[in-house]
Amino acid sequence: MSNRQRVLSGVQPTGDLHLGNYLGAIRNWVEGQSQYDNFVFIADLHAITVPYELATLSANTYSLAALYLACGLDLNHSTIFVQSHVSAHSELTWLLNCITPLNWLQDMIQYREKAVKQGENVSVGLLDYPVLMASDILLYQPDKVPVGEDQKQHIELTRDIVNRFNHLFAKPDHPVLKLPEPLIRKEGARVMSLTDGTKKMSKSDPSDLSRINLLDSPDEIAKKIKRCKTDPTRGLEFDNPERPESNNLLTLYTLLSGKTKEEVATECQDMGWGQFKSLLTETIINALKPIQEKYQTVTDEKGYLESVLRDGRQKAVAIANQTLAQAKTAMGYSVPL
Ligand code: ADP
Ligand code: TRP
Repeated sequence: MSNRQRVLSGVQPTGDLHLGNYLGAIRNWVEGQSQYDNFVFIADLHAITVPYELATLSANTYSLAALYLACGLDLNHSTIFVQSHVSAHSELTWLLNCITPLNWLQDMIQYREKAVKQGENVSVGLLDYPVLMASDILLYQPDKVPVGEDQKQHIELTRDIVNRFNHLFAKPDHPVLKLPEPLIRKEGARVMSLTDGTKKMSKSDPSDLSRINLLDSPDEIAKKIKRCKTDPTRGLEFDNPERPESNNLLTLYTLLSGKTKEEVATECQDMGWGQFKSLLTETIINALKPIQEKYQTVTDEKGYLESVLRDGRQKAVAIANQTLAQAKTAMGYSVPL
């Protein structure tokens, strides 16, 4: 057993990964991975909480796993698995459902936002999404959960569920479920849309021009940056609330070029938008090139991805089933060995 701290996180296989997912989530997993024992998964049970394409669910799941590897997840430090391959996720969700007050779920921001978009068609699954997420986390007893800012409320709910569970079913000095901490980076935690600097870059935005996908070709990247929203002021600056696009694009440039914020502020303070856009385009293309090449290699090698996910499943099941048995025992079930 390693005594490194454990981290756990996942992304839903719903559409192409974009720079927001990369900078807000995956890059942080990769950068910290040698320091931690990492569990990362593809949240394909969460993907069906809104209407989805039957024909692409499985392909998107595999493509996301390939992207994890392409972004630099290293199997020496990280276990990669598919959520639906580990049935303990669904089972713990049921158990936790029965101790989670309904109004906690009705108050979740993401539920409300998504429910509005669905009208009459809101499923129980969408409401229950955060309890499934709590189960994803708690089964692996991680110390930290690296996510983007938008997921913070779900981690807080997970902590509330832990406290309630331990209060109901455990002795104060012997908690059954471990309290996880969110790990949210300041820079990149909220990458904004290219077409509106006040809105989050998102897979669900109907306009593909609003985001750069990790697998976009150089031509597509150039086109999107050419068309992205700017403002009439010459010279770019960070942190001016009147200029959200300037702040967002400078942040992208900073994170992808590896320069410091101060260096970028000085470099771009007198630049016209045209000149800055060329620089940003080139920087994005160069930053994504190695990811795209690795993606190609991983997907070209037949059977490789399946074997990675099979190994991942095995490791995940061993840990998840153990926590599940502990939770069931604490709740009064007799658990067969
Ligand atoms: P989306 O919001 O595009 O549908 P997901 O909800 O699947 O994407 O998010 C996957 C991960 O990427 C989460 O950790 C989330 O916090 C992070 N993330 C998503 N969008 C952004 C963004 N615009 N900026 C930073 N992080 C983001
Ligand atoms: N809800 C997360 C998102 O939309 C994905 C997710 C599901 C997750 N389960 C998780 C993230 C557990 C971290 C830990 O991005």
